[in-house]
Amino acid sequence: MRFPTHIAALIAVALTNTNASTTTQKRDIPNVGETTMRGNISSIAAWAYNAFAYAIVTASNSTSDLTYLCTTFNTTSTRLYTAFPETSGDIGTFARRTICDASTANPPAPLPIWYNTLWYLKSYLGGIFTVQGYYGKPFDKEIDNGPFYASMCWYLEASLMRGLWAPNRDTDESGVDVESSWCAASGYYSKGPYSTYTNESVSVDVAHQADVLVSRLVAYMLKLVLKEQEQVDYICTNYARFKPGIAGLGLVSSVFRGLVCGEGNKGIVEVQKAKLELLDAMTDLFILQLLEAGNYKGYYKYLCETTSADGYAKVGLDGKKVVEAACEAAKGETA
Ligand SMILES: *[C@@H]1O[C@H](CO)[C@@H](O)[C@H](O)[C@H]1NC(C)=O
Ligand SMILES: *[C@@H]1O[C@H](CO)[C@@H](O)[C@H](O)[C@H]1NC(C)=O
Ligand SMILES: *[C@@H]1O[C@H](CO)[C@@H](O)[C@H](O)[C@H]1NC(C)=O
Ligand SMILES: *[C@@H]1O[C@H](CO)[C@@H](O)[C@H](O)[C@H]1NC(C)=O
Repeated sequence: MRFPTHIAALIAVALTNTNASTTTQKRDIPNVGETTMRGNISSIAAWAYNAFAYAIVTASNSTSDLTYLCTTFNTTSTRLYTAFPETSGDIGTFARRTICDASTANPPAPLPIWYNTLWYLKSYLGGIFTVQGYYGKPFDKEIDNGPFYASMCWYLEASLMRGLWAPNRDTDESGVDVESSWCAASGYYSKGPYSTYTNESVSVDVAHQADVLVSRLVAYMLKLVLKEQEQVDYICTNYARFKPGIAGLGLVSSVFRGLVCGEGNKGIVEVQKAKLELLDAMTDLFILQLLEAGNYKGYYKYLCETTSADGYAKVGLDGKKVVEAACEAAKGETA
């Protein structure tokens, strides 16, 4: 199967039942052109948690912190499991492995981070963007989504996605090739030069907005799992130690710190509220990524007319907000 290797691996693992008693069960790897889901809200929660784990590894870069987090992983993660209940798998699998592997590595976050933790962090975020995007047209056996995938393959531009934390294999920024995943889903296994029409990158301002939104996502993921005041106090008291790693990843430290340690924000947030804040942050990031990842003139009109709020809502996004943003952008496009 010629699905881009890394995302295929992510998805295959996401679909693997981790219950030891069923290891003889055959894996269900979705085929191109079929309507089988290539991920769902559980995979997204699992990947977001793992992206977060890579941020933690880099920010901490400390064997003692990571050993502690590894041994207490299950109890530390209970709020995540409450927020995203999954009966058929363990959404903590990837993140647990990331934290525990790093706890035995020396140093946990070797430089250059580009080729390890950041690379993985971006891969998982790229996987999330792709799967969320697929839900823009709900999966339905009666509907051929091929034209949707093909159109998105054509509209999305790798060079624009570089600055949006949804990178591309061609640019070596992540193992997940978002653009080619769409092409593969539509039956084209590679996006030929004929359909690549720009080498532009997003503006510095847009790239900064993306950095801010990813920082918010990571901060809200942290707030979702934090359940004791002393955990918050530990992070905030020791923040100076974590700051270089956070900034080194390209996150905006002040945004992250403000949300976790800022005045009025230092308390424990009720789990369902924390989940909503995380999903809000995901929606805002998705909107920016979706709208900025293509610059063809008819792109926004296409998104406005084609994508469905209900579809996006299936993966936890505020679908109405996504579609409205596309339609609003379409107005500017035709003006
Ligand atoms: C997500 O997908 C997996 C694999 O198909 C499935 O086992 C699981 O039940 C799904 N979870 C949700 C919440 O839909
Ligand atoms: C944590 O949970 C996983 C998955 O349920 C399980 O395999 C593992 O043994 C648990 N670890 C501890 C220390 O309880
Ligand atoms: C982690 O610590 C090691 C050892 O002090 C250091 O060489 C490495 O650069 C650090 N990594 C990061 C991402 O700061
Ligand atoms: C982008 O493409 C144009 C036209 O083909 C070329 O002149 C320019 O050098 C390219 N820029 C980059 C950054 O590759």
